[in-house]
Amino acid sequence: MAGGVGSRFWPASREARPKQFLDIMGDGRSLLRMTFERFLKVTTADKIFIVTNGKYQAQVLEHLPELSDNQILCEPSRNNTAPCVAYTAFKLQALDPEANIVIAPSDALIVNETLFADNINKALAYTAETDALVTLGIAPDRPHTGYGYIQFLGESGNDGIYPVKRFTEKPDSETAKSFLQSGDYLWNAGIFVWRAETVLKAYEQYAPEIYALLSQGMTCYNTPEEQAFIDEFYPQTPSISVDYAIMENAKNIYTIPAQFGWSDLGAWGALYQESIKDESGNVINAGKAITEDVHNSYIRGPEGKLIVVGGVDDLLIIDEGDVLVVYPKSREQEIKALRGKAEEMF
Ligand code: GDD
Ligand code: MG
Repeated sequence: MAGGVGSRFWPASREARPKQFLDIMGDGRSLLRMTFERFLKVTTADKIFIVTNGKYQAQVLEHLPELSDNQILCEPSRNNTAPCVAYTAFKLQALDPEANIVIAPSDALIVNETLFADNINKALAYTAETDALVTLGIAPDRPHTGYGYIQFLGESGNDGIYPVKRFTEKPDSETAKSFLQSGDYLWNAGIFVWRAETVLKAYEQYAPEIYALLSQGMTCYNTPEEQAFIDEFYPQTPSISVDYAIMENAKNIYTIPAQFGWSDLGAWGALYQESIKDESGNVINAGKAITEDVHNSYIRGPEGKLIVVGGVDDLLIIDEGDVLVVYPKSREQEIKALRGKAEEMF
């Protein structure tokens, strides 16, 4: 899935070039490219599909030249992940009625890719034989309100695969605290494994509107007729995430507590945490910078511009194109709303 906006990474993430196409980690690869290369440890390039907004098709091919046009599923509108997952499942089922699918976001950082591949292969082996909806779970370390929470049952019947009692998407902060204290919750990594048939059954039951709209027109060919079908019906689907539409309702959910080291690169603070700091706790990702008495800050600027900062702590300082943001790191979540305000000014 590479069709989001990445609004909490504004002003680096823009409508024309959202987060998944940015070299956020500074290692020369975009998040999309990193995700693709990680999946090459699980499968071959011909079995990797990208589902995104139609306007990003050319950019996807630029980042992933190994793919052909028909491996990019193009959405005509942005309706969040529930329609996106249904589109993918119908399309892959048309290509292969037995399709066993991993669906993953393009904004996660995964430390141990070998363990990641092991966990994915274990999930795929399980879903090939069962009607399970499997999601990878992460041990939580704080009451973060931006994630899904998975309450899992302590009994593993099957080699580290646990039945899920309850799935709660983005709880409020009190609820998140109580989940953390109870000790029997994991975070949803947003990496799902299931057969197309299994997940489509769940849509039929819990998201019948999406199911009805998208069930008729998918074929194993990429024809103009098929794209016309998608262009007509996809925008009519309700805008809702797969977490709310399916995961909060389905009864056949299982989880594999993941061991691979995970971070959601959801906002600037997460990037700060994952980056190497200098002796003052600063992360400086800029061509040239002078810092005097600056601590625990994230500073990002373009090549060819000198950034001088003094006497401040715990800031985000992001100089990107026509926008400069200076903001307390602790209030990073407000950046999404700021982006909205800023858009009105351009
Ligand atoms: N194709 C497509 N179309 N992709 C989309 C769309 C869309 O309309 N909207 C979002 N995406 C992509 C994003 O680019 C991202 O890779 C992925 O889907 C997840 O979307 P986010 O918007 O980043 O979701 P989230 O971070 O708020 O929440 C999800 O991920 C958390 C873990 O990072 C949920 O699954 C949570 O339960 C989970 O904890
Ligand atoms: Mg995310």
